[in-house]
Amino acid sequence: MNRILIGAQWGDEGKGKIIDLLAEKCDIVVRFQGGNNAGHTVRIGDRKFVLHLIPSGILHDERVCVIGNGAVVNPRAFFEEIEMLRRNGISVKDRLFISSQAHLIFPYHTLIDGLKEDTGKRSTKIGTTKKGIGPCYADKAARLGIRVADLGTPAYFRERLKSVFEEKNQVLQKIYGHPGLSFSKIYEEYQSYGPRLKPFVKDTTLYLYEAARKKKKILFEGAQGTLLDVDHGTYPYVTSSNASVGGAMSGSGVSPALIDRITGVVKAYTTRVGEGPFPTQFPPALMTAIQNKGEEFGSTTGRPRRCGWFDAVIGRYSARINGLDDLAVMKLDVLSGLQKIKIGTAYRRRGKIYRDYPAETSVLEECAPIYEEHPGWDEDLSGIRRWKDLPRNAKRYLKRLEELLETPIQIVSVGSERQQTIFL
Ligand code: GDP
Ligand code: IMO
Ligand code: MG
Repeated sequence: MNRILIGAQWGDEGKGKIIDLLAEKCDIVVRFQGGNNAGHTVRIGDRKFVLHLIPSGILHDERVCVIGNGAVVNPRAFFEEIEMLRRNGISVKDRLFISSQAHLIFPYHTLIDGLKEDTGKRSTKIGTTKKGIGPCYADKAARLGIRVADLGTPAYFRERLKSVFEEKNQVLQKIYGHPGLSFSKIYEEYQSYGPRLKPFVKDTTLYLYEAARKKKKILFEGAQGTLLDVDHGTYPYVTSSNASVGGAMSGSGVSPALIDRITGVVKAYTTRVGEGPFPTQFPPALMTAIQNKGEEFGSTTGRPRRCGWFDAVIGRYSARINGLDDLAVMKLDVLSGLQKIKIGTAYRRRGKIYRDYPAETSVLEECAPIYEEHPGWDEDLSGIRRWKDLPRNAKRYLKRLEELLETPIQIVSVGSERQQTIFL
């Protein structure tokens, strides 16, 4: 079975944990968009791994992992991650591949990302991870990008970097008052990545096609989430790639005809990092309580995540945009001890009721959620492994989520460890 796993909210839903679990039953795990802005956490016993660019399937030593053409690769971060894995006794030899068509993140991308965030007016601030993701994808679309394959042809690479570089230094100097970067330093550094990357580089579209023909099972690992998708998310407060299902196809070169199942990952509540509208955001006291209980601090930047009630309007939207077949509901354990649990089921704005997600961000910004209230439960869920052992109110809450999203729940997670999982 070939399955796509998509974040169905604003990222950090717990995709890393589920990928690691599902990787047990597949052959190949593919990252198809984003870069090292992602932070996917996998906990194995007392060890915690945070994967940024390398697929979370890498922790299973028989699995092949692929970074597809739709992802953006910072070679320095890539090798740092390999080194982190090596220190933990995990070898990536002959089982980690990068698409020759993936675009490279350069120091000017990271620098411009940071300068834009720090010197821009508040109204233009996105709250990015400052990893250079937006500027790199912008160059890709503007046909100014440099791809992994280009490192294999030093003369071509030099020429291409030279022409792009002049423009970047102009931008740095004239717009940001930055002294500019040294061409030779960057050229030398990236030139040296060529031979080091070589063993990893492949035409991954062909590799995946042939693997699918041999009935290998492929798992597609989404990064970020549907509401951060550059087309379908809360634009401009989004990342710069397609984090919803379409990105899995364009970002891997695999045909949708080969996909059997699409799974959406949601938290039992909602979180978001960075700027942008968030209708069901908690009031401050509850926010602090859930941030602490759910350890809601960014896996990549350490920033506190904004937290709120489950928003079924965006949930339904995600189910529609992605054609979700089933759901994994994460972090249900964090909701224990609340007397009442709310679900946002629609929005109200200027006397009008919105049952469907309003695509205009300016409208969404003015929307107030309409809540229904459910009785909570006190029991600690972290030791529960079967559906029938969940408290009655927890089961009712989950059933209501299924009903509102018109999507069946296949997995319920009650803790960060592999075994703290209920399969339905
Ligand atoms: P991702 O980006 O979607 O992979 O999610 P992150 O790894 O950024 O954030 C999810 C966080 O929640 C991580 O710290 C996980 O270890 C943790 N986590 C995952 N599932 C559960 C769960 O069911 N309960 C609790 N309490 N924590 C969880
Ligand atoms: P995972 O894969 C949560 C957010 C940033 C910012 C916006 C744009 O761990 O779920 P970018 O650096 O991509 O240009 O930032 O997107 N963002 C994420 N939020 N989880 C992520 O990844 C994210 N990756 C980016 O906080 O609001
Ligand atoms: Mg994350």
